[in-house]
Parts: sequence; structure tokens; C-alpha cells
Amino acid sequence: MKNMTVNEIRESYLSFFEGKEHLRLESFPLVPKSDKSLLLINAGMAPLKPYFTGIQTPPSTRVTTCQKCIRTGDIENVGKTSRHGTFFEMLGNFSFGDYFKGEVIPWAWEYITEVLQIPKDRLYVTIHLNDDEAFEIWTSKTDVDPSRIFRLGADNFWEIGVGPCGPSSEIHFDRNPELGQVKNAEEFVTASDNDRIVEFWNLVFTQFDKDEDGNYNKLDHPNIDTGMGLERIATIMQGVDNIFEIDTMKAILDRVCEMSNRKYKENAQEDISIRIITDHVRSVTFMISDGVLPSNEGRGYVLRRLLRRAARHGRLLGIKDIFLSELCDVVIENSKDEYKELEKKADYIKKVIKLEEERFSETIDSGMDILKSYIEKLEKNNENILKGEKAFKLYDTYGFPIELTEEILDEKNLKVDIDGFNKEMQSQRERARNARGDSNYMGNEELITNKIDKDIKTSFVGYNKLIDESEVVVLINDNEFVSSLEKGDKGVIVTTETPFYAEMGGQVGDKGAITCENFKAIVYDCKKNISGKILHFVKVTEGEISVGNKVKLSVDKERRNKICKNHTATHMLHEALKEILGDHVNQSGSYVDDGRLRFDFTHFSAMTTDEIKKVENRLNEEIMKVYNVCTDVMTIEEAKQSGAVALFDDKYSEDVRVVSVGEFSKELCGGTHVKNSGEIGLFKILSENGVAAGVRRIEATTGEESVKFVEEKNELLKDVASMLKCTEKDLLNKVQGLLQEIKEKEKEVQGLKNKLSSGLEDELLNLVEEFNGVKTLVTAVKDIDGDGLRSLADKLRDKLQSGVVVLGSVSNDKVQFVAMATKDVTSNGIHCGKIIKEAATVAGGGGGGRPDMAQAGGKLPEKLDEAINKAKAVIESSVK
Ligand code: ALA
Repeated sequence: MKNMTVNEIRESYLSFFEGKEHLRLESFPLVPKSDKSLLLINAGMAPLKPYFTGIQTPPSTRVTTCQKCIRTGDIENVGKTSRHGTFFEMLGNFSFGDYFKGEVIPWAWEYITEVLQIPKDRLYVTIHLNDDEAFEIWTSKTDVDPSRIFRLGADNFWEIGVGPCGPSSEIHFDRNPELGQVKNAEEFVTASDNDRIVEFWNLVFTQFDKDEDGNYNKLDHPNIDTGMGLERIATIMQGVDNIFEIDTMKAILDRVCEMSNRKYKENAQEDISIRIITDHVRSVTFMISDGVLPSNEGRGYVLRRLLRRAARHGRLLGIKDIFLSELCDVVIENSKDEYKELEKKADYIKKVIKLEEERFSETIDSGMDILKSYIEKLEKNNENILKGEKAFKLYDTYGFPIELTEEILDEKNLKVDIDGFNKEMQSQRERARNARGDSNYMGNEELITNKIDKDIKTSFVGYNKLIDESEVVVLINDNEFVSSLEKGDKGVIVTTETPFYAEMGGQVGDKGAITCENFKAIVYDCKKNISGKILHFVKVTEGEISVGNKVKLSVDKERRNKICKNHTATHMLHEALKEILGDHVNQSGSYVDDGRLRFDFTHFSAMTTDEIKKVENRLNEEIMKVYNVCTDVMTIEEAKQSGAVALFDDKYSEDVRVVSVGEFSKELCGGTHVKNSGEIGLFKILSENGVAAGVRRIEATTGEESVKFVEEKNELLKDVASMLKCTEKDLLNKVQGLLQEIKEKEKEVQGLKNKLSSGLEDELLNLVEEFNGVKTLVTAVKDIDGDGLRSLADKLRDKLQSGVVVLGSVSNDKVQFVAMATKDVTSNGIHCGKIIKEAATVAGGGGGGRPDMAQAGGKLPEKLDEAINKAKAVIESSVK
């Protein structure tokens, strides 16, 4: 048996099947494309389903891959055992109606016995109970010992969710052949359960397509789907007994130990944490490289959960700082040759991890404290179920995924009231929905506009014309369907055809007018209702209109033109950002109206001034190439093949519009655009800000608005120059000179202030008296507030070196006193607290303090002098 690294095994497998005329395909991303039944790719065949079912034609009828997979079904066992993991790679060879059992079985045998050179007496084979054909092939086309083949039931039928499935034949490895050959199926199952025998390759004879209703429909052509866990076979080849000790995993595990200053296999509890981190950081790294971002839903939630679970186990190992973003370097380093995207997106991956770690680390400690107090309370009260609302608080306020709370409680044999938690979650969703209220007009099914007859058709004809004639089919006034609208009414007009663009895809609705003889209505907005009917929101300014009338619909041309400029510029901006900042940039929202465009995109740091300038210049450069802007309607597949950027994959119906700006940009879009890039004129970025973690926003203008912007800046410059009485060219020098002048003046002012206050100090020092050898300075000063008084007393005490200072002052009609004494005189009977108390009482106040420092206030300014005299008297009597 050869000792091979993970990377060597992968390569040997793929090239073996290339030798059998298979086309080697790269791993598909972990995020399934148009497969709603799956959150994440969980088997080598998952991304190939359309080829198995015949919906799509494969690039070759024989394919081999090494597929990235994630399975989270067993997540709670990850770490606890040394076998479970969430991320793994699956080697596979596939036949789409090409070869079948007769070929795949001998090839599999050839690969494992000749290429990997696994001894035949350490191998067992299982087949499905009734699969005589498989038995026939195994025994006639390979030299496997027939007494090492066992027939099993359900274990040898492979299916996962809906889709292609069928009976299978599995190949197993015996870790302890010294215990003697296994004799029958029963003994075999026991040896498997005991981990003596491990399955490592599953050959599935895919004959059925399971549908949503659980029916097994026979496929036209039988297929082959095989899967060999790369980590699993590596443990065999490397002679280790668990996945955490194979080369790639070990490298990560070692780094975890190094970071936490722990040794593996010294403490069983800590080993769990070490393994969890090792496994989860792999999943997290790969998921992010495939575009998943942490969120509270779907696969984003899986990611968040894995990442936060790993972060918590880092804390358990005593790692105080954030560490996962650094640890993922090891993952990248080990897998970058096969998965190029890891290295390409390394910075991005690290930033996403870091942001999420930082976010969680802000709350994890307080969350843990709270959870600890919940646990203590439960234990004290002899209860074992945590209330749902408490678990929800941990989720909502401290970012604890519910599964994390469950896991921590489970460590103490406690549970969460999951129903209660779900209820809280549900009511939060409802609150959010209610808060959105009417403003979310599209989501409010109760609205009258959503009750328009489904059979009414309204088509948009405004890509190429802005004026059209059509028939009024529905009128709404005051939340009711009506047969007519008249002057003064505000309502909705629906026509069978319209050139008005209804708000969609970030582009605002058109404005304009609807008219006919003796009738005029201003269209102030245009939107679609829930079923896509186009609604003109109008105010009638002249005459009357009835259902059935023919009307003329005219879009405000100037406004529409401005919107088109901004929309086309948005596409170009998207492209320029990708070019200048990198491929990780993706649109995450946009808004386009006649005034400006707003574009939100994924990126992790503020753009530098230089980057902003580059993007702006790049766009203007392309705009000036006066590209024709073309729109083609094609199928979604054709669009993808043309390389168009598709933004919201699922939302597109069969036929899509692809908008191309010359060779520069190509995007799927239903919006309206300029005919030629030159119409955009000047593109100006107004601002660049962060709007959420990892999402930036650019606001920009085009055409007339940009010109206006530049003009305003120009005016401003002119005004400033004339105010400073210099030419624009000299402005910089002038301002620099002024700043310098101000600096010098400030210095001068400060010098004068110091002189003044030291003058006052000197003056006051003249008033020092001595009582029984104690230097005493007690006096009223003019108009100094509490802070000023304190700092003055402080300086005076320092200057006295030994003695006591009591100052009183009236500021804002309030009397303030401060007393300070050096340490030596406090042992001589001086107590600032007592002095000040008596003095303040005279001035209608109170207060006190320490022997060496005290402060107080009073309400009677006219008593200041009397109070000061009182202070003096107290001092005098205390030093006698
Ligand atoms: N699809 C089969 C599996 O995942 C090969 O085990």
C-alpha cells in the first residue's frame, strides 16, 4: 500500500479516470445552482443532477470530479468523534447513459488494487440484496474473493433528498485483518459498527429519479454515480485511524494547538474543541470562497453557526483574540493548488471571517455570562429546560445561534424550549412585517390594487417609445374600483398598454401625463401590483375619464432620459468596480432616479481616494468611447453563456433581456437605458460610504447633474477666492498662509493667558499669612468657576510647598469653594473637609471632603466674604 498525500490521491484518481476517457471537471461551487432542494452541495453527484435526469446535456457522457461537499446533518458529532466532519471532498466518476455496472466494477477494483495497491485481503464488498447482476460482475470480472462479498438491504440503496438514486455496491477496508476474516453479513455489520471495517467507496447504479412525492421513476438510461470520500481514503493510505491526522487536516490541527498553546490528546475535553475548530474553519473558508456570507437565513446561517461555534471553542481553549481569520491561511495554503479560488479570494475570505469574528466577540463574553447565570438558576431550581424567550434573547441580542445555546446547555444536560424559541422568532418576524406596514406596498395583499382581475393584461411598451394610446381598463379612487375619475380625484388608472416604466430593479417609476379630449391627469408615480399589473398613480387636473375610454399616455421625456443615463452608468460602474477592486465586488442593491444613482456592492474596506478616482476616470474613459447600447432578448441559458452578469438568479423567467454597453458591460436587466454611452456625458462620484458589514455604497451623478455639480464647485471656489482676495490659482498658498498665521496667533494668545494667570498667582501669594507656622492663603477671587478654582488652588498649593489654600468665588450667581493642603500640614490639625464645610454653611450651602482636598458650593453670593473669614478662623483655631 502506498503512502500518499491528500493531494496525490486526488490527482491519481482523476487521472486514472481520464485514462478511461472521462472528462475531468473542476469542483462545482458549494452553492447549488437552481436546485431548491439543497442548501449546500453534499455529494459529488449533486451538481450533476440535470445530466442524470436528462434535463441538460452533459459536456461528455463520462465525467470525473473531486467535489467540495458540506454535510451538517451530523454537526453535533463533529469534534466529539474523530470521524465526523462537515467539509469533505468527494472523488467521483460518472456515466450519463454511457457505461454501467459491467465497466465501473472492474475499474474500481483496478484503481484500488493496482493504483492504490490496497491488499485484497483487507477489502470487502457489499451489494444490494437482490443485485445478482452485480454479484455476477464482481465475481467474473475481478479477482475479489467471493466469500468477501456480502448482500445488504437498505444500506445498499443510495438516495439523498429528491433526484437520481439507485442500488449500490460499496467497497470497505479492514483495519484489523489480524482478527480473522469476517464470515457472514451479520458479522460484517457488527465489524462495521465497531469501526473495524470502514466503507470508503460507494458505486451507485443510478436507475431511478425520486420525485417530490416520493415516487421512484425509472430513468431512460441507467447511469453511474460513484463517491469516495477523499479524507476517508487518505486515512487508509496514510495508516492513521481518523481524519484529523491526515496531512492536510493535521496541518490545521497543529496550528490550532499552537495558537491555543495546547497539546492534542492530552485532555479529551480540549480535543473536542481542537477538532471542532479544525473542521469548521475548513467549511467556513470554502463556503466564503464560494460567495456565502454570514446571515440569519439559509446557507448564510449555516456559515454563521459554524463560525460562531468555532469561535466559542476558541474561547474554551483560552484563545482571547480573534483567530479564525488567521487560521484559514493554513486551509488556503493546503488546498490552493486544486482550488484556485481560495488563493484568489484569500483577502476577501479573511476579511469576511474577521468581521464576523469581531462582531461576535463583542457580545460573546456578555452572552456567556448571561447564559451562565441562566444555567445557575436552572440548577438551583432543579429545572432542566431553559425558557424559549431567554434563548431568543441570547440569539437576538448576543448573536448566539440557537444551536450554540443548545450545545452549551447540553454539556450540562440541560435543554431549550425550542417551541418557545420558535414562537419568539415568529413574533419578531411579524413585528418586522408590521413595522414595514403600508410602505411595503408590494407586500400588502389587502390593498385594493392587488385585487385587480387576474385576466386583465397590462403590457409595457416603453422601451422604444414614450407616447402611446391605449384603453382604460380599471380605475380606482379612494380604495374602491370606480367607473370614472374626475377633476380633483387622486387615484389609479390602468390601461392595456403603457409606455410608463413601473418601479422595478432599483429604477424608479416614470412620471408624465395621461390625457384625452377635455381630460388631463398627472402621473406622479408608476408601480406594479402584486401580480405585475402596471398602475399609474394620478391626480386628475382637468375633466373626467371613464373605463373604456381611449387615452394618450405621455412619459416625461426629460426625466426618463436622465433616469436612463443613471441606469446605464450603474451597469458600467459595476464593471469598473470589478475591474479595479476585484472580482469579489457584487451588486447588493441599487437605486436609480432622475437625480442620481446609488449603487451598493460587496467590498470590505472604504475605497481610497485613489481608487475612487480610478473608477471615475475609467468610467468616463469608456463613456467617451460612444458605445452603442444594445438589448437582446434571449433564454437564460444563452444569457449565461454570453457571459452576462446575472444578479438575482432565481427571479428571471425563461426569456431575459441582456443589456450590453459595447464590449464593456453585459448584464441581465429589465430597465431602460440610453442608446449610446455618450449620452451619459460626465460621470461623477459624489460619495462612498459603508452601509453594512462588508457592503459599500457609491452615490454618483451623470449628464446635466454632473455638470451642475462641477459648476457649483466652481462657483464655490470663485467665492472663496474672492473672499480671500486672491486668484483661484493662489488659493492653496493663501489658505496655507492663513493657517500658519492662525497657529502663530494661537501661540501668542496662550502665552498671554499664561502670563495673566501667573500674574494672578503672584498677586495672591502676597496674601499668605502664617498661623502658628502654617502658611495660609485664604481669599475670595473674582468670577472663576469650579474647575478654574481647582486648578488655581492646585498651582498655589504647589508654590507654597507647605501650607493650606482656601479659595472662594462667585460664578454664575453660585458660590464655589475649594480647599487644598499639603500633606505635612494635615498632620498639624488642618482638615480641608472641615474648613470648607463651615465656610460653605455660612454661604448657604454645604459640602466637605478629605483632609487634603475639599470642595463645596453655596447659594448666597453676598456671604462670600463672611464665609472666607470663617475659613480663616477655623484654620487659626485648628493650628493652635
Ligand atoms: N452519491 C454517492 C454518495 O454520495 C456516490 O455516496
